[in-house]
Amino acid sequence: MTPERHSPTGTGDPLLEPPPGCPAHGLGPGGLHRLHEADDLEELYETLRAQHGPVAPALLHDDVPMWVVLGHAENLHMVSTPAQFSRDSRIWTPLKEGMVKPDHPLMPHIAWQPICSHAEGDEHKRLRGAVTSAMSGLDFRELRRHIKRYSQRIVNRFCEEGRADLVGQFAEHLPMGVMCHLLGMPDDYDDRMVEAARDTLKGTETAIASHAHVMEALSRLATARRADPQDDIAGRLVTHAAGLSDDEVREHLRVVLLAAYEATVNLIGNVLRVVLTDPGFRAQLNGGQMTVPEAVEQSLWDEPPFSTVLAYFAKQETELGGRRIRAGDGLLLGIAPGNVDPRIRPDLDASMMGNRAHLAFGGGPHECPGQDIGRAIADAGIDALLMRLPDVRLDCDEDELRWRSSIASRHLVELPVRFEPRAQQDIMQQPSHTPVPAPRDTWHVGIPKPAPHGAPRMPAYPPQPEPVPVTVPATAAAPPPAPGTGQDRPRGAWQRFLLWWRGY
Ligand code: HEM
Repeated sequence: MTPERHSPTGTGDPLLEPPPGCPAHGLGPGGLHRLHEADDLEELYETLRAQHGPVAPALLHDDVPMWVVLGHAENLHMVSTPAQFSRDSRIWTPLKEGMVKPDHPLMPHIAWQPICSHAEGDEHKRLRGAVTSAMSGLDFRELRRHIKRYSQRIVNRFCEEGRADLVGQFAEHLPMGVMCHLLGMPDDYDDRMVEAARDTLKGTETAIASHAHVMEALSRLATARRADPQDDIAGRLVTHAAGLSDDEVREHLRVVLLAAYEATVNLIGNVLRVVLTDPGFRAQLNGGQMTVPEAVEQSLWDEPPFSTVLAYFAKQETELGGRRIRAGDGLLLGIAPGNVDPRIRPDLDASMMGNRAHLAFGGGPHECPGQDIGRAIADAGIDALLMRLPDVRLDCDEDELRWRSSIASRHLVELPVRFEPRAQQDIMQQPSHTPVPAPRDTWHVGIPKPAPHGAPRMPAYPPQPEPVPVTVPATAAAPPPAPGTGQDRPRGAWQRFLLWWRGY
């Protein structure tokens, strides 16, 4: 699709614009569909697939032309062929010709920046090498232990209330707590930081002040690690052999924090929504036919946290999905439409268990380097939440749920739930829906000596909150282990190994 010199969008007079519902609504010059005017992007992608096949022409705001890559194979080919397709928007013809203005609503996604996401070739290797090596030293068992503790801490804030919004009070908090910890600034995780990240991504009026708040924290961190490197992501980034400048360190801390934050918030919200609204899905989880990591993977197929990536750009004239692509054309990496390509998923209801070939993390040289961290935050966090609140249920009609959608992503606005109010728990303990007995303070071999008469008993450490009576509905509560089933036996070596492995 050679970018054409279209006349400016519409007439500016709403009376002359086709109203919503009219077949011409949402169409621009050349009869092409305007993606940003679609009421339902998923439906539009299917219309485009039916009309044009796996690569379709469409329009962005200001009628800027863009190919939408809808086919699974075509998306994979594009991301894996850096000789033909690049993430460097400086070669994009509509930008070079001034058709895309600096205030174009998609510029925050598209404008070139000196970061690994937009770099190519040796420069990409240098920047990405520093980022991947900063993340590679992670001990995942230790990470899961931290995720469980952050989850416990966050659930403690609302468990006594009996109701919560799992997007605003859980999904939007957990990834921020864990990422601040991993970057090396655990004390910066607070409500203000969550609000600032949320604002920055939403682009509200306070987005500039919020962005400044995030950047100040990251600058303080970068300066502190230059002076005194520690074993965390920031410390490993400043000491990496690639020799990143102060600006490069700050910008990559930002990319890691915000990319991780937005995607993981969406992923947790999406999985929890399905658990709460699809009884079959929940029954499979409760019955052990599906694990939480498998539920996360299914969600990455059905509702990828980023629906598209803006964008790839053709370096030379080429062909994709039977279309002639000119040098300088822009192409949208279609993650959501690629994941439902009927050539690979003829039956969308069929389980994708064990199949990780979805496009949720992109692919090729830019494939997401943080995917295992994102998966761990989502599955360990959701597991901990469900252990604490096994009777959690939706507190509104399913059709009252609302999403905030853009071309790049779809974000559940709220997930109101109810459950039996429960006491807070010691965050160092295994998440559970019943109070866990305090650990023994000492190991005894043989029969412990009774405490001298009148001597005070040692308190459990850290001090436990007062337990409150817990009522769990019969359907949700785990039944007491039946004698003879083996579950009532003392923990065996395998269970002790599992406890060690899972980190609590
Ligand atoms: C479930 C969570 C996540 C999803 C769905 C996700 C998805 C993606 C996608 C689609 C891309 C672009 C790939 C492309 O351009 O072809 C990307 C890039 C990236 N992601 Fe993630 N991501 C997630 C979590 C994370 C986490 C936790 C981190 C860091 C700890 C992270 C760091 C990055 C970075 C640094 C890039 C740029 C890589 C490059 O351009 O070379 N992501 N991610």
